[in-house]
Amino acid sequence: MYDSVSAKSRQRIAGKMEEMQERQTREAVQEIIEFNRTPSDLKGQVDQFVIGQEKGKKVISTAIAFHYRRLGKALKEAIVESGDDIDAALKNTSTPKANILIVGPTGCGKTYTSEVASQLVGVSFVHEDMTRFSEVGYVGRNATDILVDLLVAAGGNPHVAQMGVVYLDEIDKVASEVVSYKDVSGKGVQKGLLHLLDGVENVVDLGREKIFLSTKHVLFIAGGAFENLDVIVKRRMSRQGIEGNWADYLMTADLAVFGMERQLMGRFPVKVVYDGLTTQNLKDILSKSAGSPLLAYTGDLKAWDIDLAFTDDALAQVALRAQEEGTGARGLISILHRVLLDDMYRLPGNYTGEFMVDADYVRSKL
Ligand SMILES: Nc1ncnc2c1ncn2[C@@H]1O[C@H](COP(=O)(O)OP(=O)(O)O)[C@@H](O)[C@H]1O
Ligand SMILES: [Mg+2]
Repeated sequence: MYDSVSAKSRQRIAGKMEEMQERQTREAVQEIIEFNRTPSDLKGQVDQFVIGQEKGKKVISTAIAFHYRRLGKALKEAIVESGDDIDAALKNTSTPKANILIVGPTGCGKTYTSEVASQLVGVSFVHEDMTRFSEVGYVGRNATDILVDLLVAAGGNPHVAQMGVVYLDEIDKVASEVVSYKDVSGKGVQKGLLHLLDGVENVVDLGREKIFLSTKHVLFIAGGAFENLDVIVKRRMSRQGIEGNWADYLMTADLAVFGMERQLMGRFPVKVVYDGLTTQNLKDILSKSAGSPLLAYTGDLKAWDIDLAFTDDALAQVALRAQEEGTGARGLISILHRVLLDDMYRLPGNYTGEFMVDADYVRSKL
């Protein structure tokens, strides 16, 4: 098979791919150069998806809008100076980074906000689960794997990859004090991350090809539950005679007491605390969010000409159950599934038209 593709054809394919990549780069760079959404514009868009977390959304929208506006402006100048050479422009552009750390309980929208905002800006987004990382990369993954993921998310285009967002989930799990069996490995993982966060030039070795990737312009967002971090902050506040909401006073030093490397936490100048979701928030996620898990079920049933609808009380009942489960909005998905499973089996082919779910029905299924 391989032989039947002539050298000429291979050359044509390679040429075409190069052309495509160039166009992609140009479009991605163009998009960032033209980025003109204000922090409040961006927040307004994020609001359609993410419910609650008013302060957090404000801080994150501001950080992201500033990051891409700053990068766009610097790129524009560098491209003019370097005569359209994007490689050189990216290299010569230096943007002070404002990586973001989000602290908050599970399922409250830390990852979701980051992903939605990245999509709205139009940049690549990768989600890394830090619990799967280890120092040597022997049992788990290591920091260089993040670069590979970023490259894949960017469709193999290194320029696009270099302007993306990396979300480091469960960053608190690499703290050196939290779990004793991870004592050493946690430290090593944090050191590896430090290297990436510093934005040095990295090489992804693909065997036949070496790809140079700098993380200089990559925006890093880290999230974690950081259980009992509030106790640490409050203790320091009382020692220093400070009064107020601990969330407004979180500092790198507190995270160091928690077990995080001070240097690493220092690389996240923007720190924001997310609230646990209220029952009302959970209900609003179902009825108001453009990413509501209920919409997925409505759409799926619609494909069988079944019009699914929940009464207001039914939504409140689902929200209440999710609140009791204590997994944040994540509980909504599994509860909806439990409520609707039988009907999703039974109804298609036997019934069309409106299918109204009320609170009693929800209760009977849980
Ligand atoms: N504040 C929120 N508004 C809307 N949907 C949310 C919110 N928080 C969580 N969700 C939903 O729950 C899912 C899990 O939330 P996620 O952001 O991954 O939680 P975590 O805070 O643990 O990172 C999301 O994919 C989203 O569907
Ligand atoms: Mg998460």
